[in-house]
Amino acid sequence: MTWLKKVLLPALLGLVLHAGAHGAQAQLYQVPGQAPAASKDEVQIYMDRESELRGIVSIPDRKLSVLVQPEGREWREWRTSTLRIVAAVLILGMIAAVLIFYLFKGTIRIEAGRSGRMIPRFNGLERFAHWSTATSFLVLAISGLVVTFGRPLLIPLMGHDAFTATAIVTTWLHNFFSVPFVVGLLLMIVLWIRDNIPEKSDIAWIKAGGGFLGKGPGGHPEAGRFNAGQKGVFWMVVLGGLAMAITGYLMMLPFYVTDISGQQIVHVIHGLGAAVMIAGIVAHIYIGTLGMEGAFDAMGRGEVDENWAVEHHSGWYQTMRKRLGLRTPPRRHEIGEIDHHPAGAD
Ligand code: HEM
Repeated sequence: MTWLKKVLLPALLGLVLHAGAHGAQAQLYQVPGQAPAASKDEVQIYMDRESELRGIVSIPDRKLSVLVQPEGREWREWRTSTLRIVAAVLILGMIAAVLIFYLFKGTIRIEAGRSGRMIPRFNGLERFAHWSTATSFLVLAISGLVVTFGRPLLIPLMGHDAFTATAIVTTWLHNFFSVPFVVGLLLMIVLWIRDNIPEKSDIAWIKAGGGFLGKGPGGHPEAGRFNAGQKGVFWMVVLGGLAMAITGYLMMLPFYVTDISGQQIVHVIHGLGAAVMIAGIVAHIYIGTLGMEGAFDAMGRGEVDENWAVEHHSGWYQTMRKRLGLRTPPRRHEIGEIDHHPAGAD
């Protein structure tokens, strides 16, 4: 095999660089066994080129004739440095912001206390769509972050061999979980798009900071089934998720649609989109769990306490009151007492 290293490879490299140096009309020749046509300095000159350098190929795949693509250097800088900084700042910044918010505000309580009466909020299909998207999002986020940060963070911890195995498994998980993610996403669009169309009351909600940054004159700002904050999360997930899916499949099937610079652009959108979405979802998970009393019930058991509904979604609550035929007003929770209102009167 030494003849391969000593003779053939240098000869082929020389031949390729030689071809580029003389442009498209150059005659390609190199006698195996002779010194390569390009010195180390010459190689460096080619690598520093400001414009694309092509050789000649006789096969139909024209992109294989690209020898030097200067944008590739910018892309590599983005991939190995800028993306890591941007993603770390966005994601760790959001985690820090949420922790600071929690330290100052604590959990937002149901002011009137729990009424003990539960009203339906999300049916089984809606919760399936949410959890299918949410679990696959988590797998996609973690496996994607292994791709972004694996080399600098995991190789020093686990060594090259274990990282290779981890990277293979996580890449496989990333590809596989794209399917339930897209299925959940499409289902969510069909189920919830109507309730997420922006409307006038959203402006008042935003002006009042959603009731999070102190109370407006009327206490909690009014909201329908989804408030402006939830609508923001919906559109971020829908538009961001679709962009992630399109760019993801373009990377999974490289060069079917785009050329080399197209692949680089697609990758930049995917990497940046991932960082923005993960940061956004950190805030969403916080509000749905630690941040607000009673919120998790909506997606957990599919029903919410009536007082929670009154305080956070007063418009929607009024519609539900009529639909369920509730006559008495909500009350404070009496210990151990929980009523469910799937459809009937109270
Ligand atoms: C929905 C369908 C998706 C598909 C088909 C997809 C596909 C891909 C592919 C093919 C790669 C390149 C992997 C590699 O270099 O080996 C990738 C990278 C990545 N994906 Fe996805 N992805 C999807 C969704 C997501 C979502 C929702 C997130 C985040 C929440 C995400 C986060 C990432 C990250 C962080 C990377 C690594 C970028 C880098 O550092 O190079 N992906 N994805």
